[in-house]
Amino acid sequence: MSRPESIENRWDILYRDYPEVYEAFSNTPYSPTVYEQLSGILDLHGKEVADVGAGTGSSSLALAHYAAKVIGIEREAAMLQKAQEKVQGSGAGRVTFLSGDAMALPLADNSVDWVTGITLALYPPGQYRDFIREGLRVAKGSVVYVGIPPGWYGGDLYDVIEDVEKVDDEVDRIFIEEFHFAYQDIFSNQDYGTVEHIVNTYGFIFGKKAIAHLKRENKTTIRWKFRVYWRA
Ligand SMILES: C[S@@+](CC[C@H](N)C(=O)[O-])C[C@H]1O[C@@H](n2cnc3c(N)ncnc32)[C@H](O)[C@@H]1O
Repeated sequence: MSRPESIENRWDILYRDYPEVYEAFSNTPYSPTVYEQLSGILDLHGKEVADVGAGTGSSSLALAHYAAKVIGIEREAAMLQKAQEKVQGSGAGRVTFLSGDAMALPLADNSVDWVTGITLALYPPGQYRDFIREGLRVAKGSVVYVGIPPGWYGGDLYDVIEDVEKVDDEVDRIFIEEFHFAYQDIFSNQDYGTVEHIVNTYGFIFGKKAIAHLKRENKTTIRWKFRVYWRA
């Protein structure tokens, strides 16, 4: 398969056909990390966590630095395979992965302490209602979602990435107004090191307008704002 210049925000194509690009994108270092900030907001220590939308496993492995046990749940076979390969290589016995859907979790009622969705990007946004109901069914403790708040899709290049359906307002409303989640915003800088790396990962995902901007400005970092939503 010849690789296009960009998948123009088609995350479904990214997960299905280019899991290695998602892996390179998610492994590009963030400072400070989402996980160190999350562990300062909510105590993960000793907890058993179901990490929904585990992707290539980055979030599950990062949560396992704090939690006692993490079960990563992922629906896309190509992503799940990468996650499973990674965990086999790392010998991280506290992390396992399962195939499953965020809207029908393959876990019993009250079977874990926390359910997390770390940039679990459900579409259309009404699907978050089912994820929240499932999370509250399965978790003894908190359901935690880390997402991108309104106005921050693509981080500080939000204004450059136009012509994309932006659903973050509705997601925000579902968590805060409909389901009464508490929330806190956190910031993180992602350093890609070179223009070539940012164009081949971030640019590949967020589109040709982003690529043109990155090259013109010689930009190699992205500033992100994340919103941590939680409810016990
Ligand atoms: C942006 S990635 C986040 C991956 C990982 N949590 C991380 O932080 O690197 C979102 C993941 O959610 C998965 N996903 C989307 N909808 C899903 C659903 N209904 N059930 C399970 N996984 C889903 C996608 O396949 C993708 O791997």
